[in-house]
Amino acid sequence: MWTLVGLLLGAVHIAFAGAYFYLTWHHKYWQKRGVVTAEPLTILGTYPGILADKSRSLILDVQEVYNKYKTQHRAVGTFLTRQPQLLVLDPALAHEVLVDKFSNFRDTITSSYVGHNPDDKFVHISPFFSAGDDWKRRRTENGGGLTPSKLKMAFTIWEQSGKKLLEYMERARHEQGDIIETRDLAYRFMANTMADFIWGIDAGSLTSAVGEISPFQKTSTAFTITAFQSIIRFNKSLVAPFLRKLLQMRFFTKDSDEFYLQLTRDAIKLRQSGSGSDRTDYLSHLMQLQQRGNCIADSVGYALSVLLDGYETSAAVLYHLLYTLSENHEEQEKLRTELTEALHAEEHISYEKLNALPYLDQCLNESLRLTSPIGFFMRICTKATQLDLGNGKVADLEPGTSVMIPAYQFHHDDGFYTEASRFQPERFDNGAATVLTKRGCFLPFGDGPRVCLGMRVGQLSVKTAILHILTQYQVEQTEKVPMDADSGLGIFLNGDVRLKYTKCL
Ligand code: HEM
Repeated sequence: MWTLVGLLLGAVHIAFAGAYFYLTWHHKYWQKRGVVTAEPLTILGTYPGILADKSRSLILDVQEVYNKYKTQHRAVGTFLTRQPQLLVLDPALAHEVLVDKFSNFRDTITSSYVGHNPDDKFVHISPFFSAGDDWKRRRTENGGGLTPSKLKMAFTIWEQSGKKLLEYMERARHEQGDIIETRDLAYRFMANTMADFIWGIDAGSLTSAVGEISPFQKTSTAFTITAFQSIIRFNKSLVAPFLRKLLQMRFFTKDSDEFYLQLTRDAIKLRQSGSGSDRTDYLSHLMQLQQRGNCIADSVGYALSVLLDGYETSAAVLYHLLYTLSENHEEQEKLRTELTEALHAEEHISYEKLNALPYLDQCLNESLRLTSPIGFFMRICTKATQLDLGNGKVADLEPGTSVMIPAYQFHHDDGFYTEASRFQPERFDNGAATVLTKRGCFLPFGDGPRVCLGMRVGQLSVKTAILHILTQYQVEQTEKVPMDADSGLGIFLNGDVRLKYTKCL
């Protein structure tokens, strides 16, 4: 009897020791490579927030590690659940990873999140989710319809969207008073612009009854929110990546795949029938690619890439900028003066002129610094390399290891931006944005060959909306909205953004 108990106890001990060894043996990974390690938890790794729902958040966990190590180290070894990851703490090192050594860090962690379910057939077509040579081809094809010359030719889409936005605002003010929920307003504007640009259709988001959500807007909002939640879900699955295949995890839902496949087919058919055949827009680009051999799945994939990467992000930038201007009256007035003068000089602002308005650009950059829709990037080491950690230390990185660039933390660091929490567009005058990006501390669109492919589209959309709104209305705050990190990807306004719009005299 006692022998049996002894044997059982022995077996339990061995099982516990085995489990403990399995869960912790990799904790020495960075130490063995001479890199300082941020102490990980057994299963959760360095950032328990990656697995939490609302109580903690990945971006706040990164902040803690960043604050603790940034003054003494250029990078620190961390664990994303069980996987070793280098957290970059020095912007110059971020620039090295994103730009100078791009060929050693070519892939992103999101490219490892797709391909587990063969039915999820559109997501991997986006450059955001592709890797290796496939990424290169996808980026060239996807980006061919987003060049400055193509956008210049498509500029009337933005101008008309701006006019419709004002008409919608007037109707809303007439029916419901001067206070407009601005998150909704931003979504409406971006839905209209994206639907017109990508598929050549009216989304109905600015022409519907006030407060009514059109089917396109409803589906597209659900589509982008689900996709961003999928990123968070896949981040969580890092703790047991085998589950992705086992559970056949997918990014886009079956319903949204069917909706956009049908929409793309219908839009192409309509265009082939002659409707809008003189237009230059993203649909005309997709049709040219089809003539060169692309299939309908490629077209849907690229269309969804523009929608996913451009709709929610640009809307978020727009309502954050409006909210910020509503509490910074001097800056709002200065910006209005610039916009009004530009309008009076030409009566209509050209694509080039809109992009060349200096204070508008500064306000947008400053708002992007304070609230970037994407607060960090994760790159995968694709070719073994060394990174200089200073003080004679070097980190040997092997293929497969990931590196995190904490853009949000750089943007909010008083060491790089005096009074970093204040909205001061003037810090971006005289081309400072380019200099700061080269230094690695201003990365709202990333940097290097994988820099945001739709940067110009996003900037154009936000600038157009601001031009139209500020030349017509004074924007005032009605209540403070708290900032929250519960998405895990960034820190955003949480709650309704109710701003008061009064006609300028
Ligand atoms: C103001 C709005 C936007 C912001 C702040 C933004 C930001 C970003 C950021 C930070 C990245 C990651 C860059 C990196 O990993 O280095 C990115 C990637 C990307 N963005 Fe945007 N984006 C915006 C709008 C758009 C729009 C409108 C489109 C499409 C028309 C777009 C398409 C993409 C694509 C395709 C990628 C992946 C590029 C690649 O990996 O090669 N984005 N964006």
